[in-house]
Amino acid sequence: MDAQAAMHGHGALIDEPVLRTLVEAATAAPSIYNSQPWRFLVGPRRIELYADPRRQLPIADASGRSLLISCGAALFNLRVAAAHLGFHPRVRLLPSENPTHVATVEVDHRHFRPGLLDELYPAIWARHTNRHPFWSRRPPASVLGRLVEAVACENAVVRIYDDPDEVVRIVDLLHDAEFEERNNPMGVAERTSWLAAEPSHDGVPMESLGPVPEQTRAAFRDLANGARFTRPTAAFETTPTVATLSTMHDGPVDWVRAGQALERLLLVATNQGLTASFMNQPLEQPDLRWLTRSPTTGLGYTQMLMRLGYGFPVTPTPRRPIADVIAHLGNGHAIP
Ligand SMILES: Cc1cc2nc3c(=O)[nH]c(=O)nc-3n(C[C@H](O)[C@H](O)[C@H](O)COP(=O)(O)O)c2cc1C
Repeated sequence: MDAQAAMHGHGALIDEPVLRTLVEAATAAPSIYNSQPWRFLVGPRRIELYADPRRQLPIADASGRSLLISCGAALFNLRVAAAHLGFHPRVRLLPSENPTHVATVEVDHRHFRPGLLDELYPAIWARHTNRHPFWSRRPPASVLGRLVEAVACENAVVRIYDDPDEVVRIVDLLHDAEFEERNNPMGVAERTSWLAAEPSHDGVPMESLGPVPEQTRAAFRDLANGARFTRPTAAFETTPTVATLSTMHDGPVDWVRAGQALERLLLVATNQGLTASFMNQPLEQPDLRWLTRSPTTGLGYTQMLMRLGYGFPVTPTPRRPIADVIAHLGNGHAIP
């Protein structure tokens, strides 16, 4: 199949270089504890994205909510990479009876110009979770407004807490959750098993954990909470910019949408020089998750809790080789 024929809609559009670009971008997405719970089944003009339930966290994520948010983030990157390559893909969410089938992305034509989402493509590689203290400079309202818009485009809502009393209320919930976490040895063991002391293709490397906050009430999540690792301490921001991402409903399709909204927010934030880390400890406990809802509107379901700010660059976390997550349709390779 020559390039001209491919441009005009005959034959395989997803050849090896295209596939590599799409899946490398998708797998650069954030995932809960860097579990990378995704797989890709590939045909000449389609990619099917599946969640990998073997990588679900049974204690922290019994419902599979974070599993599907992670896959949604990967799907958004795939859409951005498709736009980068000149595709205008058709995307269907949860398109079959199989609950692990997250999305099907179909392409039928390759344009000469990239699509609009291409402006986010470089940010896929520049985005990293930053668990270090942020600078005192606060994000201006104009930048925060762009994040609100980005999330709205993906059918979710971001709320930035500018009332200091509300920030205190959220920080209190973080610390209630940490207290509960420390008293759950099975949960500590599960989380610790995803902290990678040795070089590994998945899990969170020790150097990405960031320092332990000096203050007892910081807007932060120490992923090693309850585990016995010695780490340096540092003072975290005293007036953090805290945000929640939520959806109106709380089913699997909302989780996939939340993941796409999260990644869109993070890529727009990255293009604006902002960085983020997550504090989902109250969301992993049903009673506390409920309390993270906005006390003023009372609407929606919180899907992610984060802090935003400016900071020094951090090193990327590893990813599994793309060959480990790709299977080809019609080659006798089924999704295991
Ligand atoms: C659904 C979800 C939940 C997450 N929860 C937390 C969290 O509570 N605390 C945290 O520090 N990081 C959290 N993360 C960030 C992941 O640990 C991070 O994305 C992963 O280690 C890969 O690193 P990277 O984001 O730098 O590429 C979460 C990510 C996702 C997608």
